[in-house]
Amino acid sequence: MRKFYVTTPIYYVNDVPHIGHAYTTVAADILARFNRLRGDAVFFLTGTDEHGQKVEKAAKERGKTPQEHADTMVENFRKLWKSLNISNDAFIRTTDPQHKAVVQDMLQKLWENGEIEKRAYSGWYCTPDERFWTEKEVVNNNCPECGRAVEHIQEENYFFLMSKYQERLINYIEGNPSYILPETRRNEVLGFLKNNALGDLCISRPKSRLSWGIPLPFDENFVTYVWFDALTNYYSATKYLSPTPDPQSLIPEYWPANHHLVGKDILTTHAVYWSTMLMALDMPLPKNIFAHGWWMSEGRKMSKSLGNVIDPHEMTSRYGVDALRYFLFREVPFGLDGDFSEEALISRINTDLANDLGNLLSRALTMIQKYREGLIPDAIDSKDREGLEKRIKAWFDATSDTSIRKSYDDFLRQLQFHHALAQLWKVISELNEYIAKSEPWKEKDEGTLFNILYTLAESLRIIAIYLYPFMPDTANRIWQQLGINAGIEDAMHQSPDIIDWGAYMIAGIKTSKGEALFPRIEKAKGVKMETKAEKAEITENLIAIEDFTKVEIKVGKVLSAERVPKSEKLIKLQVDTGEVRQVVAGIGKAYAPEALTGKKIIVVTNLKPAKLMGIESHGMILAGTDSEGVLSILTLDKDIKEGARVR
Ligand code: ME8
Repeated sequence: MRKFYVTTPIYYVNDVPHIGHAYTTVAADILARFNRLRGDAVFFLTGTDEHGQKVEKAAKERGKTPQEHADTMVENFRKLWKSLNISNDAFIRTTDPQHKAVVQDMLQKLWENGEIEKRAYSGWYCTPDERFWTEKEVVNNNCPECGRAVEHIQEENYFFLMSKYQERLINYIEGNPSYILPETRRNEVLGFLKNNALGDLCISRPKSRLSWGIPLPFDENFVTYVWFDALTNYYSATKYLSPTPDPQSLIPEYWPANHHLVGKDILTTHAVYWSTMLMALDMPLPKNIFAHGWWMSEGRKMSKSLGNVIDPHEMTSRYGVDALRYFLFREVPFGLDGDFSEEALISRINTDLANDLGNLLSRALTMIQKYREGLIPDAIDSKDREGLEKRIKAWFDATSDTSIRKSYDDFLRQLQFHHALAQLWKVISELNEYIAKSEPWKEKDEGTLFNILYTLAESLRIIAIYLYPFMPDTANRIWQQLGINAGIEDAMHQSPDIIDWGAYMIAGIKTSKGEALFPRIEKAKGVKMETKAEKAEITENLIAIEDFTKVEIKVGKVLSAERVPKSEKLIKLQVDTGEVRQVVAGIGKAYAPEALTGKKIIVVTNLKPAKLMGIESHGMILAGTDSEGVLSILTLDKDIKEGARVR
């Protein structure tokens, strides 16, 4: 028995999960389900990153201890994974005592081996990102990554001597082409390592500044840097959370992992920090770190301040879990960035899912009902026709040249999800053509007709197995409608060869045609589409007038406007709303600053101040964006005085 260990990043417990978190986690779920079907001993791990300054600060603001705060927030992730049908074997929290013990154990070993040193240190620190930057990296006193202000800090700290491992890491990445994927990202990491001197890594924070962390085992005045703590989860979990192996199966250690799936934003911490930490500890490295791309929304990075964050709950309640899972992995190659659009999602549902897949099942079952009273007939080999039944059988025959098995498996092993799905849809489309070509409704010969019906039912039975990792619920529904009284995963475990043609006795089974797998989503022209689920949600989302009146909205007059340096989108405005306030707005792609001065606009005036690229913003300008992405700010119909309340 082979073992397969896949991980997601552990998500910051402070954030509310969005589509990006869902993306990585569903990817890991697809791999876990695929490998379970193939009979491997699978360990699929996800979890939350719970220490550090941000959690400490958020807890304080809510009048809670950091632990209480984490205990509340972690539920958002658990709930989302449940609703997305995520089959993780374990959920690690970095506040687990067993995890803390492993972190301390690793630190102690590194300390004893002389891999850690205490030094005086001064540098620029970005509190929200919990990262130090060098003088050279800082841009106008702002963090080069998030654009927020950095502080200059001087203190003693402990350093992991990471620089020692620079050459060894370069050699390792060069000698192991699939260690970092996709290749473009691997080249970026190599380019970085070859052109820069790798520094040592500050792995402590003085308790006087931050107490919410794992104490260093050799100096209790310090806690562990949150990334050292977090990365260790991948190993610590194998010590206390991995599935208990079957004593007969001889599954050894789950470490090293087969894949660490991460977003491109955190590749460096994995490829450089984690790899060198493991080298220093003389531990095996993971087999692969795969950095996927980012989902954007309306062409921009998702952010709370832009209000364009895609909520996975909202998407699944409108369109269903499996439709979302399918879309995320069919629309964009894993590794590239993509723009999340509901239009594209609806189009995939209507075309690929309702039309191609849903109709195929429904036509097959309708004919079985009509010509055989719902019973799947037996096939008669002598009736197989070249170019029709024989051709279809060949796709599902592992030994044939046109077998989809090998290419599908290869694509999934290389994490090319979209290719695996495209391959499957080619078969689905050809099966629809097969119905058209073989014209069962005109067929006079009973044996030939039975062959057609059997071919369709058997193809659908096997296609469901291939669909299962991506759309587990849909795949099982296909089996149920075919009348197969078993779950796909259980059946595969009992006899793995049922993925082959004819290896499962379906002749004589009574089918039970059910509801359409994917009802079409109608889109009236110019009107936002509403599914039943969405209608219900809209009613639930109604707010009371008291809620609305909490929002203070006023007429403002733009006194001056200028672009924020280094930003395409942001404009800094001075606005008179009865008093002069500074507002930073993401309207720079649609408006030139000159065009704004003197305009009367509508401003939300009682928002908590926020910093955008280090610049304070006291309010929000109201604007609308249509489905084509055209943005328009709200202005007045008649001129009224600035400061007037809008309600
Ligand atoms: O970075 N598109 O946690 P995090 C695609 N705690 N994926 C996205 C995304 C987007 N727009 N936004 C986020 C952390 N992600 C650390 C990790 S691991 C030892 C510690 C996904 O909550 C992507 O996988 O900020 C990214 O790497 C992860 O969420 C970051 O989650």
